[in-house]
Amino acid sequence: MKVTVLFESDYGNTAAIADAIAEGLRPHAQVDLRPVDGGSIDADLLVVGAPTHVHGLPSARSRKALEQEAAEREAKGETLEYHPTAAMRRFIDDIPAGDGRKVACFDTRFDRSVILTGSAARTMRLRRLRYALVIILLADVGVLVYGAMAAVAPSALIPGYESYSSRTWLELVAADTQTAAFVLLLFWLLGAYNVAFAVLAIAIAATAFRRGEGWAWWALLAGNTLGFGAPMVYDQIVGEIGVFEMLEFVGIAAIYAALAATVPAGRSRRPPDLVHR
Ligand SMILES: Cc1cc2nc3c(=O)[nH]c(=O)nc-3n(C[C@H](O)[C@H](O)[C@H](O)COP(=O)(O)O)c2cc1C
Repeated sequence: MKVTVLFESDYGNTAAIADAIAEGLRPHAQVDLRPVDGGSIDADLLVVGAPTHVHGLPSARSRKALEQEAAEREAKGETLEYHPTAAMRRFIDDIPAGDGRKVACFDTRFDRSVILTGSAARTMRLRRLRYALVIILLADVGVLVYGAMAAVAPSALIPGYESYSSRTWLELVAADTQTAAFVLLLFWLLGAYNVAFAVLAIAIAATAFRRGEGWAWWALLAGNTLGFGAPMVYDQIVGEIGVFEMLEFVGIAAIYAALAATVPAGRSRRPPDLVHR
């Protein structure tokens, strides 16, 4: 079996772990160990590792900050073991997927709970999340726009009342002004509820889901099912199905597809917990 071990490292910790992994594999496989680069990969198993920076994979900004700090410390006469490799983030998207090759991710990080430290391995494993993230954000921004529209102009939902009751709005206002005002209040509340739901879903998607936290996946599944399901049932009951209402079907279908592509891995499929001590 052929194994390629690619790593990013600045101060050598991740390089040392990559080295240890390669050593462990050598009796069983032909191992190619090297800092990450754009070179070709001829392997049945690919192992990729990186240090954790700011809860995830090192970014251009975190690497720049590190470079500046190293320059300042060197200017003060400190001796540093600072030997930065290329950035994993630059190459990870080019790693071919879907050809049956197995990929394992590892990282180095502080010796604390992963909730506190974050994990570069998890970010690498979940890079495919970003397509799902865009889809979920678009759908939930749609809900936000709809909710804001209903909250600002609750009268936009009047066609639903007219379709359900087979009476015109003016008839209701003429018959009972207070009931008409109450119905408008409920429409406003529906809009406000949609805004609150969408803001929460967008916040969870943009933070915890993006970091690959399992609870966020479940929260988005449950929240979107409820958030889209309730107005969809309402639309069916009142019999008001227009273009906008059809978009709800498209939105929830897109969200389910995005979530299906990013089902959280079970405990046994997690990347190995290699911790820098
Ligand atoms: C800019 C920067 C940000 C970091 N952020 C985190 C972090 O969010 N969580 C963590 O556990 N460790 C963090 N660390 C610690 C590194 O992940 C850890 O020291 C790692 O082993 C460094 O790997 P290297 O020696 O291969 O460069 C950070 C280090 C740096 C320099």
